[in-house]
Amino acid sequence: MDIADVKNISIIGAGNMGHQLTLVCALNGFDTVCTDVNGDILKKAEDFADTYLKERVKKGKLSEDDAKDVRSRITFISGLRDAVDKADYVIEAAVENLELKRKLFADMDRFAPAHAILATNSSRIVSSRIADATGRPGKVCNLHFFNPALVMKLVEVVKAPHCDRETVDVSFKLCEKMGKIPVLLNYEIDGFILNRVLGALAKEALWLYEKGIASFEDIDKACLYGAGHPMGPFRLMDLTGIDLEYYIKNEAFRNSGDRADLPSPGVVERFIKGDYGEKTGRGWYDYSENAK
Ligand code: 3HC
Repeated sequence: MDIADVKNISIIGAGNMGHQLTLVCALNGFDTVCTDVNGDILKKAEDFADTYLKERVKKGKLSEDDAKDVRSRITFISGLRDAVDKADYVIEAAVENLELKRKLFADMDRFAPAHAILATNSSRIVSSRIADATGRPGKVCNLHFFNPALVMKLVEVVKAPHCDRETVDVSFKLCEKMGKIPVLLNYEIDGFILNRVLGALAKEALWLYEKGIASFEDIDKACLYGAGHPMGPFRLMDLTGIDLEYYIKNEAFRNSGDRADLPSPGVVERFIKGDYGEKTGRGWYDYSENAK
């Protein structure tokens, strides 16, 4: 398959990343299908797309006709079979659970055309733990986008041992066609590039906070005003999701058996309360109307 053959993209999972990935694809000319097992999340993604496109027109970033074209390229649909049966390229953006992803990939393999590439946007799970759930391991890879996907340019493309060269080449070119900046990892590694770097920063920030050395607000301020970061590690965790941090750390602990990999107490406390960050209105910071 060549990049010119990629016309239909399916996004599996309409949550944190999927709702924006859907727009990224449609804005760059691809016919895009988005699905989720949760009807409320799918509806929220659809509402987001409508509001986002209206706002882009209001801001003068898109013409009304272009916004209509973009919207006409998106289908929100429930049911995996219908979501992938015409796909040339599938991007899975479901929750970070290995067993669930293996089941999804086995189903995607059954329902998607034989030529389709099946990529996972997982933050940490390497595709060699998933590829053998399909009958097309050469067409399975990691394609890792960053939050907010409509804004962040970086995409990590991972060359796993089972990946065909064509899968990597098409994935790389696809990112470029989406206006992104792809980087290639020649080998699989837990956390890829940027999550390893950001993870090291977050680990140190959490240690400083848990030891009572500084408040999380001041640690964020230090990163903002001392290092020029666009947001500090606590604010960033609220954006990407404290639930995601919790799942990732537990998965890291399951792999390593090292208790230092467990989620920190501040993360566990917020996870138990359901304070996942921006999406629930409270995480490290308060995003409620009152606080605004
Ligand atoms: N969704 C969509 N678009 C958004 C957005 C969001 N959540 N937040 C901001 N934007 C858009 C705005 O609409 C605006 O677009 P325009 O210029 O075309 O009109 C543009 O971004 C700038 O917006 P603002 O001026 O309001 O905001 P900032 O300049 O403060 O930028 C930010 C916001 C882009 C989120 C910036 O703070 C940033 O870059 N933060 C760091 C994000 C980051 O590190 N992401 C990586 C996370 S790690 C990850 O995702 C890995 C995964 O595995 C967990």
